[in-house]
This record gives sequence, C-alpha cells and structure tokens, in this order.
Amino acid sequence: RISDEERLFDELIANEQRIEPRDWMPEAYRKTLIRQISQHAHSEIIGMQPEGNWITRAPSLKRKAILMAKVQDEAGHGLYLYSAAQTLGITRDEMMQQLIDGRAKYSSIFNYPTPTWADMGAIGWLVDGAAICNQVPLCRASYGPYGRAMVRVCKEESFHQRQGFEILLTLMQGTEEQRRMAQDAVDRWYWPSLAMFGPPDDRSPNSAQSMAWKIKRFSNDELRQRFVGMLVPQAEILGVTLPDPELRFDEASGRYEMGEIDWDEFFEVLRGNGPCNTERLERRRTAHEDGAWVREAAAEYARRQASASAL
Ligand code: ACO
Repeated sequence: RISDEERLFDELIANEQRIEPRDWMPEAYRKTLIRQISQHAHSEIIGMQPEGNWITRAPSLKRKAILMAKVQDEAGHGLYLYSAAQTLGITRDEMMQQLIDGRAKYSSIFNYPTPTWADMGAIGWLVDGAAICNQVPLCRASYGPYGRAMVRVCKEESFHQRQGFEILLTLMQGTEEQRRMAQDAVDRWYWPSLAMFGPPDDRSPNSAQSMAWKIKRFSNDELRQRFVGMLVPQAEILGVTLPDPELRFDEASGRYEMGEIDWDEFFEVLRGNGPCNTERLERRRTAHEDGAWVREAAAEYARRQASASAL
C-alpha cells in the first residue's frame, strides 16, 4: 500500500510541480539526485583545470581576461551545485572527500589534455556545447534547487560556447598553420564530447528511473542526436570537418547516422585510466590540502563572530 506522502510525491511529479528540500521524497530519489548533482559539481570543479592550463599563456590580454572569467564561472557553477546537493542532506566535506579519495565520478571529458591554444576553442565549442544540450532540459528537473541552479549555469554556458566558437573562427580565418591547429583540436575533442552524454540508452542503467522521476527529460542518445544536429551547420560556418566519415542525415528516420563511439575508451576513462585522470585528481588533492589553513581561518572567524554577537 502506498503512503499518503508517496501519493503526494507522485502527484507533484505527474503534475510537473517541483519537489523542494523539505518535501517527503523516496530515498532512492534523494540518492539519485545526490549522485547526479555531486558528479555534476565535481565536473565543474575538475573542469577548471584543462583551461586553467592556458590562462598564463593566452595569446592576448583580452583572451586572458575572457578565459579567466570563464574558469571563474565554472567555480561558481560548482558552488551552486554543491549547495543544491547539500539541501539533500550530504555535507560539502563529504562530497569533497569522495572526490579527492577517487570514489566519486566526474565527467569523462575533463581527463583529456589541452596541448594547444586551439583546445580552448574546441572545449568552448564542443564541450560547453554538449553541456548546454544536456543542461537546458535539466532547468526543468523535478527537484527545485537543481532546476533553478541550472538556469544561470545555462546562461553562462551559452557565453562559453560562443567564445569557443569565436576562437575557432578566428583561427580558421588565420594562417594555414592556425587552421591545421583548429582542425587538430576538433579531431581530438569531437568523439570525447559525444561520449559526455553517457553510455547508449541500452547500456544506461539510471536513465529509465531518472526519466520517470523527471530529473532527466531526454535519454543519452536523444541528446547526442540533438547535439550533432546543432554541430553540423556550425562546422560548415567554421570550415572545420567533423572527424566521422559515416556521419550523415537519414531523411527516412529523421536522425543522424554516425560512426561507433569508442565505448571501451569511455569505460577506461571512468575506471580512472584516461590520459589525465591521475594528474587531475592529484592537483585537486594538493589544492585542497594547500587550502586547509584558509578553511580553518574562515571557520574560526565565523565562530568568533557568532560568539561576539551572542554577548
Ligand atoms: N563521465 C563520467 N561518468 C559518466 C558519464 C560521463 N560522461 N556518462 C555517464 N557516466 C556514468 C554515470 O554517472 C553512471 O555512473 P553511476 O551510476 O556510478 O553514478 C554510469 O556512467 C551510467 O550512466 P547513466 O546510467 O547514463 O547515468 P545517468 O543517468 O546519471 O546519466 C549523465 C549520465 C547524462 C551525465 C547525467 O548524470 C547528467 O545529465 N548529469 C548532469 C550533467 C553533468 O554532470 N555534466 C557534467 C559535464 S558538463 C560540464 O561540467 C561543463
């Protein structure tokens, strides 16, 4: 027999209303949200590293200022998301510990290196483009604090995507060497950005339940299709080639046919064996340890302020 609380929860979901932190929710719903939101927060924080690599080497003052603003935005996204996850009863310390112990997942995409300036363009265009496709529907996620955090995140992601596109456009209008550099970056980021959407639907254990709860609104493969549909005309404007000889639009099904994503590589990255997993975690761990005195000082300051105001 289903309880009154559960009936109310089901009704709220069915009527497209929001679940808020103090509402009753099934334990599995809470767990799923903590899993997805904390993984998402970790991705934003780890995602600062591949681009942080280029702040000191950006080709002009203007490019440096833009890149710095973008990386700061990612820190902000991580903080909203950790706050949203905290409303579900997990502490930020617990989440941070899971990340630096290597127990938490974060997006596969941030385990690839950024050897050239063109990578800043390809990340903005492809990685942030994929992030937008995935996250715009999350603005309607059934859990209120997550959906609301996504609204601002998506606005900022859309600026990030355009700045990446503009970096590539500038390079593509440059010298032969610059065009080669832009194409090389697109070649390296294209497939990993398709894999960001997660495993194919028939290998995605969480999708069905997350869609029933209206956390996810579209399946991994549906979003991948949308993303490719967005890229094709943009690639034409840029003059870059998407590195998939099998890519074509099938009029009959109304879908893009594409080559096979290397899922073995994807799962290896998830197991911690991607090109930069060790380096990314090590840097995060060191930054956390180096920041310990700041956290202690802030906590002590807050304690003294609280006891002063209690007098
Ligand atoms: N990188 C790392 N892990 C992944 C990825 C990926 N690209 N895609 C799927 N996985 C993991 C899932 O987290 C899940 O692992 P878990 O069960 O141990 O938690 C497993 O692979 C199976 O995948 P799914 O059943 O498809 O999982 P889910 O329904 O959670 O869908 C998805 C995965 C699409 C990433 C979803 O969690 C999501 O939309 N998250 C929010 C967006 C996000 O995190 N974006 C981060 C990158 S964007 C950015 O930061 C700029």
